Amino acid sequence: MTQVKEKRFVAHFEDMPQRIGREIVIDGNRIAVFRLLDDRVKAIGGVCPHTHGPLAEGIVSGEFVYCPLHEFKVSLLDGKVQEPDNGCVATYDTLVEDGQVFVIV
Ligand code: FES
Repeated sequence: MTQVKEKRFVAHFEDMPQRIGREIVIDGNRIAVFRLLDDRVKAIGGVCPHTHGPLAEGIVSGEFVYCPLHEFKVSLLDGKVQEPDNGCVATYDTLVEDGQVFVIV
């Protein structure tokens, strides 16, 4: 069965400071959304695969976020945890339209 994708509103683009994560919950899934320094918007699963730290509260550096609990480094592009740690989180497409940010789920 193919799943219909829909766009879910996150925030107004101007209300999203660069490098400050924002957590939203869609259908029970926590999603962390970030506006990078170059204004790209990236969305990944919001729960760290280590011991469930809140990735939206992590420190953003380039295209990575560091989990606030034990600093796992997670790619905002493909959701992969960088070595020497391992694991991954989901990634979501995003859309910025008329000054509004959406996540595609
Ligand atoms: S919970 Fe994220 S690094 Fe430990």
